[in-house]
Amino acid sequence: MNSIDRLFEAAKAAQARAYAPYSGFPVGAALLADDGAIFSGCNVENAAYPNGLCAESGAIAAMVIAGERRITDVLVVGGAGGPLTPCGACRQRLFEFSNDETRVHLADAAGPVEVLLLRELLPRAFGPHDLAIHQRDDNTR
Ligand code: THU
Repeated sequence: MNSIDRLFEAAKAAQARAYAPYSGFPVGAALLADDGAIFSGCNVENAAYPNGLCAESGAIAAMVIAGERRITDVLVVGGAGGPLTPCGACRQRLFEFSNDETRVHLADAAGPVEVLLLRELLPRAFGPHDLAIHQRDDNTR
């Protein structure tokens, strides 16, 4: 199985665990880190609606806990069945651990349907490169 198919399977498995009783819009996300490891997440909603977490956020947290810092590919699946793109806040969260080649795969229930670059989804992004801290920390761009 190639890495994008593995991402799809991981995202689908995460989607099946989503906690989305309020929106009824379960989402799964999976990240491929540059060492080949895959990390997944699902949305976790909350009765206090704004406290809900997106699927991408959970996947990013799992990646960071494992010590990884670079995303090569992201795949998102969920919701009403059609392909969806990461929300604006998650584009920014993904950007933190991305580079110019980081790809975003959009999937429907049957599999990946489209691939975009993260930088196409978040042009002229503000990021670590804008802060002096990037000169001290080669874990960021
Ligand atoms: N959601 C995600 O988890 N990721 C996205 O990229 C888009 C939206 C979640 C948030 C909320 O739980 C539900 O989908 C409806 O917005």
